[in-house]
Amino acid sequence: MQMFEQNLKDFSEEFNLSLSKYFKFPSGSERRVSEAMSYSLTNGGKRLRPFLLCKTAQLFGIDYQTSFPVAASLEMLHTYSLIHDDLPAMDNDDLRRGKPTCHKQFDEATAILAGDGLLTYAFEVLSKAPSLSAETKIKLCSLLAERAGAFTGMIAGQMLDIQTDKTPSLSSEEIIKHIEEMKTGCLIAYAVQAGAIIGNAYKKAYAALTDYARKIGIAFQISDDILDVVGNQELMGKTLHKDINQSKLTFVSLYGLKQARDIASELITKAKDDLAQFGSKAKELQDLADFIISRNH
Ligand code: IPE
Ligand code: IPE
Ligand code: MG
Ligand code: MG
Ligand code: MG
Repeated sequence: MQMFEQNLKDFSEEFNLSLSKYFKFPSGSERRVSEAMSYSLTNGGKRLRPFLLCKTAQLFGIDYQTSFPVAASLEMLHTYSLIHDDLPAMDNDDLRRGKPTCHKQFDEATAILAGDGLLTYAFEVLSKAPSLSAETKIKLCSLLAERAGAFTGMIAGQMLDIQTDKTPSLSSEEIIKHIEEMKTGCLIAYAVQAGAIIGNAYKKAYAALTDYARKIGIAFQISDDILDVVGNQELMGKTLHKDINQSKLTFVSLYGLKQARDIASELITKAKDDLAQFGSKAKELQDLADFIISRNH
């Protein structure tokens, strides 16, 4: 497992270098929003979604030069979701990726604009990605918008997340699964599916990768919920015990730690089975699945 963490770290270093070239800093006072965007984007982060996207594409022989711009766009969108998730009106968090949250470092209005800026820029970067056909880019733009969106995507999950205490009539397990799948699972699924789309994956491969992605997406959020209870704040780089303090509905609040761990671990075992057709070529995706439940950050 330590080998995997080193692998992820090496990948992140290379990916981070490629991210830096996307930033422009105008000379006027409008520069403040670029600074806030760059602060949050370059401020640590495991880069798990870019890793998933690029390694999936690699299964089909696609190099980083081609996949990095697509992964950069996804990381921008993910970072926007974190900036807004931390806002006082949402989770009201002070710490993110080991540093003050965007609204603490700058101010609330700037953080809202920085999130908006990253969300918008994500689509600009994606639509301008070199080495991809117009058809592939349209497919990716449309899928990303859907996965990040308000009807069945990340925004829908965030809406449910902040009002779980107000919907007690629905089955708790149904709600949680829905939340975890949408608020977190959707962007993780996009990472894998985008890699497969760039790689022009055949139907059977795409379907198997989609199954894998769905399972690791839910397991990832369960693990985030577990770490919110038992994690180390310094390693996590964010405030812990938020879920209980804010009465969030999670697998941990419903079943307790042990059962939540069992559910996550069963999902990971099944997710790895989904990769069988790729054999040892999918070793890094297998390892990533294990990392999701063994991680401490
Ligand atoms: C945190 O995501 C938000 C969730 C969806 C649980 P990550 O744990 O991937 O955060 P970073 O990108 O590494 O900071
Ligand atoms: C955040 O879930 C999911 C998104 C940002 C879409 P959490 O609220 O649990 O994430 P953390 O714990 O603040 O990273
Ligand atoms: Mg939240
Ligand atoms: Mg949060
Ligand atoms: Mg959390």
